[in-house]
Amino acid sequence: MKVLIVGSGGREHAIALSVAKSAKVDKIYCAPGNAGIGQIAECVPIGAMEFDKLVAFAGEQEIDLTIVGMDDPLVGGLVDEMEAAGLRVFGPRKNAAILEGSKAFSKDLMKKYHIPTAAYENFDDAGSALEYLETAKMPVVLKADGLALGKGVLICQTLEEAKEGVRTIMEDKKFGEAGNRMVVEEFMTGREVSVLSFVDGKTIRIMSSAQDHKRALDGDQGLNTGGMGTFSPSPFYTEEVDAFCHKYIYQATVDAMAAEGRPFKGVIFFGLMLTQDGPRVLEYNARFGDPEAQVVLPRMRNDMIEVAEACIDGTLDQIELQFEDNAAVCVVLASEGYPVSYEKGLPIKGLECFEDKEGYYCFHAGTKQTEDGIVTNGGRVLGITAKGADLKEARANAYKAAQWVTFDNKYMRNDIGKAIDEV
Ligand code: AMP
Ligand code: GLY
Repeated sequence: MKVLIVGSGGREHAIALSVAKSAKVDKIYCAPGNAGIGQIAECVPIGAMEFDKLVAFAGEQEIDLTIVGMDDPLVGGLVDEMEAAGLRVFGPRKNAAILEGSKAFSKDLMKKYHIPTAAYENFDDAGSALEYLETAKMPVVLKADGLALGKGVLICQTLEEAKEGVRTIMEDKKFGEAGNRMVVEEFMTGREVSVLSFVDGKTIRIMSSAQDHKRALDGDQGLNTGGMGTFSPSPFYTEEVDAFCHKYIYQATVDAMAAEGRPFKGVIFFGLMLTQDGPRVLEYNARFGDPEAQVVLPRMRNDMIEVAEACIDGTLDQIELQFEDNAAVCVVLASEGYPVSYEKGLPIKGLECFEDKEGYYCFHAGTKQTEDGIVTNGGRVLGITAKGADLKEARANAYKAAQWVTFDNKYMRNDIGKAIDEV
């Protein structure tokens, strides 16, 4: 069969590699893709938000299955448009992708269905948000309602900071239209875990857990980024945590969406915080995590196409997910200056070191193929993933492999997975 993947990051490279392992697949296309994806798929120069062109391409090429990796096209309704054209597509429809597209929606859903999360209030105007803050307990968390590249969350220590934050989001519109509404949320403390799942509208199947490292600098300092590295599984995701989440969070979320007339089919990403009072939902995403996908998918034994089709057909109850009994660590190689400003177009050397190396992966994010070879083309350039018998071995392998690749202004965190030493 012919498969089209929509997106261009390390996540889509990991999806493509998973899809390529399926015996059912003859040909993979990726729109728009990147240099690494181009080695296993045919990249087509269509942007992820060019819905008409994507629908036309999938029709003309008789694509059997489209997998949408990115949040923007999902929230914008690409799945609906593809379905309307009679195409088969993996991902939530627009009315379900709102689970990620509107934080105010997801908070109201959790409240209505008693799914554990931080206490909050939603606001449509700056005036009432500012008034509310006068009596709120600090620190407080401000969230722009809509998609903001993972950057629309402000943690404010003082009332002054919080007021400034409201102005930044709702008046200065730093995150654009995403700031038309805002959530003001209780500040929680605890360890964070990312749990990805497949959902077919009714049934949910949980993948192996992971942990992201969102801050740019070692020791969780510096600005928030899309993610500087991950490990899987998380040793903090214990059987007790798993049992709690199954009882109060996972199926409850799927049932809540169905009850609202918004059946969710695709991947739900649960961003959890393990607080002293138990696990709480920090956020939902309607897609695989990036870079979570780069450590979770290489460990999945199932045929990705079979699982995706079961989600579309509503037969996920017949599938059990299976993961290798090992660990994986992903270290992101970024451009110095990310996430603010950085140079592009710098030649990357050493990529060939990964050829035929079992258990080592070089996922491309911001890269471009030029006549002179592959060059950097973004803030997050590559995700270097390695497996190991346990997390410590996987981390040592990932940092070893991170040395194989060089480019000017290469930057990485040196403490990805350091938390596992505490276990
Ligand atoms: P989100 O995009 O909602 O996951 O928020 C981004 C990051 O902000 C999370 O990964 C947390 O580190 C932090 N964060 C979000 N909400 C809270 C909260 N209620 N309490 C503490 N930290 C939070
Ligand atoms: N790594 C966090 C995300 O994909 O949103």
